Formats: sequence, structure tokens, C-alpha cells
Amino acid sequence: MGEKISVIGPGTMGTGIAQAFLQSGFDVVLVGRSEESAKKGLDLVNSGISKAAKKGSLSESDRAGMLARLTVTHSYDKISGSAVVIEAVSEVLESKISVLKECEQYAKGSLIASNTSSISITLLGNSLSNPEMFVGMHFFNPVPIMKPVEVIAGEKTSQKAIDIAFKLSEMCGKTPIKVKDYPGFVANSILMPMLNEAMLLLEKRVATKEGIDSIVKLGLRHPMGPLELADFIGLDVCLDITNSIYEATKDEKYKPAAVLEELVLQKKLGKKTGEGFYKY
Ligand SMILES: NC(=O)c1ccc[n+]([C@@H]2O[C@H](COP(=O)([O-])OP(=O)(O)OC[C@H]3O[C@@H](n4cnc5c(N)ncnc54)[C@H](O)[C@@H]3O)[C@@H](O)[C@H]2O)c1
Repeated sequence: MGEKISVIGPGTMGTGIAQAFLQSGFDVVLVGRSEESAKKGLDLVNSGISKAAKKGSLSESDRAGMLARLTVTHSYDKISGSAVVIEAVSEVLESKISVLKECEQYAKGSLIASNTSSISITLLGNSLSNPEMFVGMHFFNPVPIMKPVEVIAGEKTSQKAIDIAFKLSEMCGKTPIKVKDYPGFVANSILMPMLNEAMLLLEKRVATKEGIDSIVKLGLRHPMGPLELADFIGLDVCLDITNSIYEATKDEKYKPAAVLEELVLQKKLGKKTGEGFYKY
């Protein structure tokens, strides 16, 4: 039997992290908050694996092997003995704290990591009884393809925890990079104001959504336009992240655009719900 990792929160990121570790030979436990959400998670992992198989990066036997090493559940019992338990639930402080406490209780001695995009690792760690074994591991979307992992140490994170986070990231083919515990870390400190600026330009009718995205793609050589990218990330996730960075910094550049709040209110969350700035 291979090394085991567990992931809590079977959404975009949790299922992507599960797939990346499965592809690297790990046993993976994926935990949802209900039977129904765990089942949705299994469907998402299945569809991610099918996409990789269609692109030719996985054979039929690789695919069967990966699914045989995956356990999908809504109970925390199965996470004990994990090399790491990675929390990937919604970007809401209270949800993360209650999930992390459960993780610590069921996976005594394991490294506990959060995939948070913006919440302080020190703050999350302070809610745990063993913050020395807690670390930030911020993966990028889509996880099976994107290389970096921002590894974030809180004030009490031990060197042992950082070393394990680096080793496991490398074992699943990623490039870990150490980053200070700072609101939004590196990636979202840069990305969120850019996405927000594109939304403000749209509100001011400086160009159409297609126009804004084309200029950024063709002129700045970004693979996706900012509005397309926001849809891909999830507009609720973008709103939670900008709000969390704004709360921590009070810097106006992180104040969410009204159009973002409006779309989230209308449950138009981007690609995952079939509509955001664009229809899918
Ligand atoms: N979407 C991105 O591009 C991206 C990139 C990097 C990091 N992140 C971070 O990853 C985390 C998850 O984001 P996502 O995009 O996967 O969101 P998502 O909305 O796709 O998925 C969130 C999942 O968490 C589950 N969940 C919520 N509360 C739970 C609980 N108490 N117990 C168990 N499961 C629970 C939901 O059912 C859902 O399956 C967030 O912290 C986000 O900031 C997102």
C-alpha cells in the first residue's frame, strides 16, 4: 500500500488535489460534508481523470488503478494515518476552523494543511492544539496541471511541517515555493486586484467583456482574459478572497466590484454553475 493523503472539501480544488495525488501513486481519502456532496466529488474526480485519459496522459489501467486507490466518504474516520490532511473547503473562516479541528482530532500526529487563498495561517493555526504541525499549502487551479504550491508558515509552524509540505508537493510533481503569511500570499495579492480592475472597467463600460478579455489575451499575452479567469475560478471564491484580503488590509484596491457581488447574489458563480460573466 502506498502513502495516504486526505482531502476535505470535494469542490474544484479538493477534487483537483485528490486527482493530482492519485496520479502520483498515493492512496487518497476525499471527505465531503454529506453523502451527496461526497458523491458529487467522486463525479468530479472521475471527470477529471477522463479528461486526462482523453488527452493521452493516462492509460485505461492507470485510470482503474487510480480509482481503486480513492476512498470517497462523508465521515472523518478514514483520515487517520494520513501523511497530510489538506483542507479545501469554502473560503470562510468559521468553516475552515471547524473542519481543521475535526482533522486534528481524527488524524493525530499528521501534518494538517489548508489550501486557503487568503486567510492567515497564523490565525487558523491558533485555533488548533498543535499549530506546529499546521501549514498553508496553496495549490493552483487546475491542480493536475499547474505546478506551483505556495507553502506558508504561520508563526508557530515547525520546520518539520514545512519540510513535509515541500516533500509531499514534490512527490506529486509540484514546485513548492515558501511564502510569508501575508493576506492573499503572492498569487492572489497580484491576481485579485487585476480581476477586480477588469470588473470595474466593465462597470464603467470602457469596453465589452469580450473586448477586455481579448486585449489582455492578445496584448498582455495572458492565456485567459480576466473575466474568463474569474468565471473559471468561481465568482463566489473570487468574492470571498477579495473580501478576506480587504478585511485584513483595508486597502481599497481589494474592495470587491459591485458587479461581482451582484452576480454572486444571483448565484451566477461562473463555469461551475453554467453562467457568470459568460454563459457555458
Ligand atoms: N477555485 C480556485 O481557483 C482556487 C485556487 C486556489 C485555492 N482555492 C481555495 O480552495 C478552497 C476551496 O475552493 P474551491 O474553488 O474548491 O471551492 P468550491 O466551492 O468549488 O468547493 C468547496 C467545497 O467545500 C465543501 N465544503 C464547504 N464547507 C464544508 C465543510 N464544512 N465540510 C466539508 N466540506 C465542505 C463544499 O461542499 C464544496 O464541495 C478555498 O479556500 C479557495 O480559496 C481556490
